[in-house]
Amino acid sequence: MNLVTPTGVLGSPAPTRRSFLYTTTAAVGTVGLIAAAWPFIDQMNPDAGLRAAGDIVDLNLINLRPAQQVVLRWHHVPVFVVRRTAGMLRAMQERTFVDRLVDPHSERRQQPAYARNWHRSIDPAYAVLVGICTACACVPLYVAEASPPDLAGGYVCPCCASRYDPAGRAYSGSAQYNLPVPPYDIEHSRILIGKKVPGEMFRLESIERI
Ligand code: FES
Repeated sequence: MNLVTPTGVLGSPAPTRRSFLYTTTAAVGTVGLIAAAWPFIDQMNPDAGLRAAGDIVDLNLINLRPAQQVVLRWHHVPVFVVRRTAGMLRAMQERTFVDRLVDPHSERRQQPAYARNWHRSIDPAYAVLVGICTACACVPLYVAEASPPDLAGGYVCPCCASRYDPAGRAYSGSAQYNLPVPPYDIEHSRILIGKKVPGEMFRLESIERI
């Protein structure tokens, strides 16, 4: 056992001014390093603040049944999340149906780049759409069953009967724009509406027609 005396541990050299300076410098350096690195660390966790501010709304997909739709509220707009069935996805690719689409290649800026594909989404199994008709802003009604004239299921607008498929692609009536796709991401079976995907600048304000 070491005996402790006023000048330090007996047998161990008393701390010198130099060792004190080394220790202090190392401590200050470490604090400085953390302070410098913090913004990078902190930016990896933007969700907490954004969720609190309501900028991100999330949904657990685990409980979503095939053909089921859930409506969420994000930035004062309704957002539809649908688990699409295999039947819907097949019908959406039918040539005769695709030929009826107003904007089959999503030329108009109604979606982020990662949703500019035939199913207008990150994962074909799930549709994420802003639920506001692009004709005159009514809320379209969801049609789960694929039966004529709703060849693939989708949406019918109660106001002037515009129709959209389960990817929000307009195919009849006065609507000339597809339903918007909001910025979102999918993490661990959760949809995060409002979450920005790195490199993608698309925001609610980017939507050409809402
Ligand atoms: S508001 Fe939807 S078709 Fe008129």
